[in-house]
Amino acid sequence: MTKTATPAAEVDLFGATRLGYVLIESERLEAWRRLLLQGLGLHLEAESEQELAFRIDDHARRLIIRKGPAEDFVGLGWQLSDAAALQAVLARLDERGIAYRLVGGEEAAQRGVSSCWRLIGPKGLPIELYTQPILTPRPLRMLTSAFVTGAEGMGHVAITSKRPEKQLRFWQELFDARLSDRISQRMPGAMLDISFLRLNARHHSLAIAATRGLRLDPIRTQVQHLNLQAATLDDLASAFRRCRSLGFEMAHEIGQHPNDLELSFYVLSPSGFEIELGWAPITVDESRWQPSSYNAISLWGHKPQNHGLAHGAITNLGNFGRGARSLLRPEYSPI
Ligand SMILES: [Fe+2]
Repeated sequence: MTKTATPAAEVDLFGATRLGYVLIESERLEAWRRLLLQGLGLHLEAESEQELAFRIDDHARRLIIRKGPAEDFVGLGWQLSDAAALQAVLARLDERGIAYRLVGGEEAAQRGVSSCWRLIGPKGLPIELYTQPILTPRPLRMLTSAFVTGAEGMGHVAITSKRPEKQLRFWQELFDARLSDRISQRMPGAMLDISFLRLNARHHSLAIAATRGLRLDPIRTQVQHLNLQAATLDDLASAFRRCRSLGFEMAHEIGQHPNDLELSFYVLSPSGFEIELGWAPITVDESRWQPSSYNAISLWGHKPQNHGLAHGAITNLGNFGRGARSLLRPEYSPI
């Protein structure tokens, strides 16, 4: 009897994908070293004139800062649970005529993987797919007790978009992402709608944010923030104090989100986007989860350290000058 392979479209890939690594390009390696090593308390695995590589668990590399002018994310690594799941995603890319290429050798080693498949995702952000992280048994030397990773991945990313429907379709059609919930937040002059997508039991691996009506993108970078999950409340509080005493600005001081109930703060990184350190988000029980809607991004807290209006106009979501200019710039979508 011959066994026929299940068509890629019919396989359910929910649960098979997790955020695995981030590749960032910056000229400010010394400031990045201070933030990640001394502030957030990660393990510095490797450093040279050209790069910094950090660990938060037994993966050889989780955050890689490569010297270069982008001051932005230049690759997001997504780990697939096995070769069959990876092949199913590649088949779905083939069906849609989306190009990808194999990355190996030194390029892959820099990312802490044996090889990966690279494609240009929504908004032009490179998406890198792999199954085999390089692991290391060497003990971690960190200022923090641990980070929560495992089958739910290393955290989440939030992305602003002028074409949120395309972003959602990309993650839903290719990775069987599920909608966890939505939050609408009134901003000065605009309404922001955020959709939270999960790829596994983590409440969200992706948040896609868009202005309602006229679509603006006030964020310069591909990713508005990267979230990492601290193991304990003490880890969160200690990292907050260290970042403050090192002089890093809090984009949002400690507060709590209404949907995943994560306690978190957002520190402004040397490249201008934010890093959120969180603690104790809920995980989703698939048997009883119902998507819902909220009308504020925070239950309490998350206040900016610097309240000045002028300051708000040059940083983050309040940058309406950049938002207005974004009207003239098309946003790429592969789907
Ligand atoms: Fe977040």
